[in-house]
Amino acid sequence: MVMEEEYVELTEGKAGLLVPRGYNTKGPGRKSGNVFYNRQMELNRDVCISLLRSENRPLRILDAMAATGVRSARIALEVEPVPVVVANDSNPASTELMQLNFSRPGLERITVTRKKANAAMAEDSYDYIDIDPFGTPVWFLHQALMSVKSGGIIGVTATDSAMLCGSARGSDRRYLSRSGRWPFMHELGVRNLLAYIVRTGASFDRAVYPTLSYFADHYFRVYVRVRNGVGRAMDQLANLGYVLYDGSTGTRRIEREYSANAAGPSWLGALHDAATLSSMRVEEWFGSGRRMSRMLDIWREEAGAPPLFYNTDELSQLFGFNLPSLRKTISAVSKTHSACRTHFDPKGFKTAAEPSEIRKLLLAEGWAKGIS
Ligand SMILES: C[S@@+](CC[C@H](N)C(=O)[O-])C[C@H]1O[C@@H](n2cnc3c(N)ncnc32)[C@H](O)[C@@H]1O
Repeated sequence: MVMEEEYVELTEGKAGLLVPRGYNTKGPGRKSGNVFYNRQMELNRDVCISLLRSENRPLRILDAMAATGVRSARIALEVEPVPVVVANDSNPASTELMQLNFSRPGLERITVTRKKANAAMAEDSYDYIDIDPFGTPVWFLHQALMSVKSGGIIGVTATDSAMLCGSARGSDRRYLSRSGRWPFMHELGVRNLLAYIVRTGASFDRAVYPTLSYFADHYFRVYVRVRNGVGRAMDQLANLGYVLYDGSTGTRRIEREYSANAAGPSWLGALHDAATLSSMRVEEWFGSGRRMSRMLDIWREEAGAPPLFYNTDELSQLFGFNLPSLRKTISAVSKTHSACRTHFDPKGFKTAAEPSEIRKLLLAEGWAKGIS
């Protein structure tokens, strides 16, 4: 039975609901009380709502690990046309709380189920499936890739970022991809996660198209669109490859075949779908609005940019002089190559220029302050 004194009333987006007293406000969070809620993940949910609103079609949605039901409640109240929503969690305390939370106006039509996520997904097919586990999503991706409708989307959170970024052993075991603790490790982590999803999809004759892929706070989040077709799946597999990094020159190399010390296989195609990003909006009721707006701008900039960003501190050390501000560095490199910011790193930028070319361009602009 839900003991109401264990919970507090809170509003997120357009939804009012009960969440556990002493809920998490940042970090990967832990379970406080019997049900999980993390306020910091409001950005994650705001982005999710924006992306689902941009679909602008009737959707059948499974929130496979719904906890308090906050995401489901927001989807039901904020996405148009009003979708069919199933909110599932294997924890009985969660489903009891959701029953209470969904007794409010506009939420009564949400169906609550208490199943293992893989069982819930296997029973039906959906236009959108949300996978938001504690830790790795690997346990759930196979079934999600089988249960999403052709043309549908899967939203995936991975909080095992240490493993994906190479600081914990086992990325090659868990994700069948090698990682590396390199200056661009967060981008490599998300690309290895995408490679895993693309390869798993292909094994079910399903093509996986990255729609939006990012790192924020402590987690990775990717949205992928899935379509049927062996030919399409093969085309997507052609975007996988290996990454080599030479720390003495800053050179990043991409190879189609494996060689010693390479990381990967990694997804080397675009991280975002530019058309989806251009139709996403930051709504005035979003709690993370200002932050999301900044991120959306940068995602749009980097949508067509080459893989594996540079970091200005990394290059300062290599070149032996301090690089100017990020804005000035980008402007100098833009004289001959396209260059843009990246959301992965406030000191990061993306360009196809080699480090030696970047150095020359900065020297030509007189930015060699501190050179010996
Ligand atoms: C990080 S929380 C989900 C947070 C929620 N999506 C939100 O936006 O607030 C993870 C949830 O997954 C549930 N869970 C863990 N393993 C599961 C499984 N195998 N099947 C279904 N639910 C599971 C937990 O009970 C927990 O409520």
